[in-house]
Amino acid sequence: MASVVVVGTQWGDEGKGKIVDLLTRYADFVVRFQGGNNAGHTLVVDGKQYIFHIIPSGILYEDKTCVIGNGVIIDPGVLLKEMASLAEKGLTVTPGKMLISSNAHLIMPYHQRLDVARENALSKDKKIGTTGRGIGPCYVDKVGRVGVKVGDLMDPSLFKEKLEAAIDEKNFVLKKQFNAEPVDLAAITDEFTRYAEQLAPFVGNVSVTLDKARKAGQNILFEGAQGTQLDIDHGTYPFVTSSNTIAGNACIGSGFGPSHIDEVIGILKAYTTRVGEGPFPTELPEGDAIGDTLQQKGHEYGATTGRRRRCGWFDGVVANDAVRLNGLTGFAVTKLDVLSGMKKIKLATQYDVEGTPYEYMPENIRLARAAKPVYEEVDGWSDELTDVRSYDDLPQEAKSYLKRVEDLTGIAPAIVSVGPGREQTLMLRNPFEKK
Ligand code: GDP
Ligand code: IMO
Ligand code: MG
Repeated sequence: MASVVVVGTQWGDEGKGKIVDLLTRYADFVVRFQGGNNAGHTLVVDGKQYIFHIIPSGILYEDKTCVIGNGVIIDPGVLLKEMASLAEKGLTVTPGKMLISSNAHLIMPYHQRLDVARENALSKDKKIGTTGRGIGPCYVDKVGRVGVKVGDLMDPSLFKEKLEAAIDEKNFVLKKQFNAEPVDLAAITDEFTRYAEQLAPFVGNVSVTLDKARKAGQNILFEGAQGTQLDIDHGTYPFVTSSNTIAGNACIGSGFGPSHIDEVIGILKAYTTRVGEGPFPTELPEGDAIGDTLQQKGHEYGATTGRRRRCGWFDGVVANDAVRLNGLTGFAVTKLDVLSGMKKIKLATQYDVEGTPYEYMPENIRLARAAKPVYEEVDGWSDELTDVRSYDDLPQEAKSYLKRVEDLTGIAPAIVSVGPGREQTLMLRNPFEKK
């Protein structure tokens, strides 16, 4: 029996979906614990690509339960569409296969509208570059104690009361502050009454279910969304998402006790990407030959918004922040194949911030913006890696690169990924097996 948390170590899109899909083989439960459909997790199984925004990435297995914890925020229309699209592919999501926390909050149509209106109103240097999915406004309402929970939706009179209490203020702000279209109470009530009927069989108490599973000796896999530097407390604030993305939130966002977590695996892209605005010290800006190669060879376009991802070298400062903040016990290094063909590869080992050396991301956003990476350079390799299936068959330079990452961080890779497919993976250590 083991409980394993998977988190992103950088700015998201590290390949969490692929690794979660792979590890689901050993798990009984796969649990999302934060974020919403700002996430885009890609799986490639038998050559077919699936992108999940809200359904946990374990859904392709027959006999596993996918769980949406209380820390997740749910756009019910998006969830139902995702379920319908799976049904079209012959995979019916039955109540036995998915459980939704009654304590999870709902992304309401006004949240989405406010997110977009707020971003549009910001000047260029202040824009966050959100996904426009209503994430910030929904978490604001949760913390402000005026949010609408999944459990409220299941109780028509409570839902009506909450919606009526919220809507006048939301429409006032939409119209008066942003000159945006207001939302319609009757239309939302109709739409959400349908959602309530469709989702009711899936709703339950996640904390109680996971506790029973643990006591019965079942394996639980927690699937983080976004990445460590997008964490609301520890990331490059305000250029972050509105939830805690680090491993500690696996417990809070699902109602699972911290003493029961056995392993925390950090997904680490072999280079770095970021989508949206904000500091990115190792960025190789658009037009840089190496940055453009990483972007093209790595197909670095957002899985949610289709935006071009910014690309840069591996950042050891970011990796070490992730080791510390998540208490990592292992890495899954992804996209090592994308580095093939580089004569030399750079790794940032620290920052120079206005003459002061930094081994962690400065908390002050002005200083984070001023951070200049200090690089070291290692030899690259020319062989393509996509057909490699064992660590021993990696070129010596690729092994040295992995070893250098291990030496810089003190954390060894448990998994190395050399392509998007489930089979393109080197499993050095199975986190579900006792150390
Ligand atoms: P996530 O949000 O962390 O799940 O990552 P995304 O799905 O947004 O982005 C990762 C992208 O890289 C997806 O298109 C994956 O199919 C792809 N991918 C994952 N692992 C590898 C790998 O090892 N090599 C290559 N070339 N692509 C990968
Ligand atoms: P996955 O789970 C990469 C970024 C957005 C923006 C900032 C805030 O696929 O790794 P939000 O809509 O959350 O308020 O946007 O966070 N962002 C992500 N970037 N991967 C993600 O998820 C992201 N989710 C949010 O681009 O900069
Ligand atoms: Mg993604």
